Amino acid sequence: MKNPLIEGMIIPLLTSVHVVSVLIWIGGVVFVTVIIFPMILRMEDSMEKVMFFQGTEHRFAKIAKVCVLIVGLTGGLLVYLKGVLNAFFHKEGLYLTLMLFLWIVYLIVLTFEKKLFKIIFKGQAQHDTKKMFVRLTLFHWIVMLVSLFVVLFSVYQGHGGNF
Ligand code: HEM
Repeated sequence: MKNPLIEGMIIPLLTSVHVVSVLIWIGGVVFVTVIIFPMILRMEDSMEKVMFFQGTEHRFAKIAKVCVLIVGLTGGLLVYLKGVLNAFFHKEGLYLTLMLFLWIVYLIVLTFEKKLFKIIFKGQAQHDTKKMFVRLTLFHWIVMLVSLFVVLFSVYQGHGGNF
């Protein structure tokens, strides 16, 4: 039996919080990729590049972690309340699978962020900072485009879009 409180308020509210958190998080990724990275690439001094990157990325990572947590919690609750667990790994629930996959990728990157930075900055940075930032830019572009595709596809399929 349908519960009007759950159907009419809780699910729409959870979806709104879910989407706003996705907006802040993916919006931040777009900002870092499209605004911050070109600024870093234009800098002359290698040390300045590294310091600026670590400063911005570190601040953003904190915000992203909170958003990832909220997205995971609201997403999990939505799956439970909407009873769509069976849709995972089926064509009609592909958007749910993609959301979960992307969420896991971000969770891994953000959890091991410090270790990843250590590896990146210890190795190549001292030799070729420019090359390293070009690679980091490329990595951010890939992550950003995949994330935007998942948002686009989630809204499309979530609203009955066929493919
Ligand atoms: C643990 C991970 C996640 C779970 C379990 C989850 C689950 C859900 C569920 C159940 C819905 C409601 C679907 C519907 O109304 O039919 C939803 C909506 C949505 N999710 Fe996620 N999600 C997760 C992560 C993400 C991520 C990483 C993104 C960003 C790419 C995302 C973007 C969206 C969007 C844009 C909607 C709104 C779709 C619409 O317009 O109806 N979700 N999510």
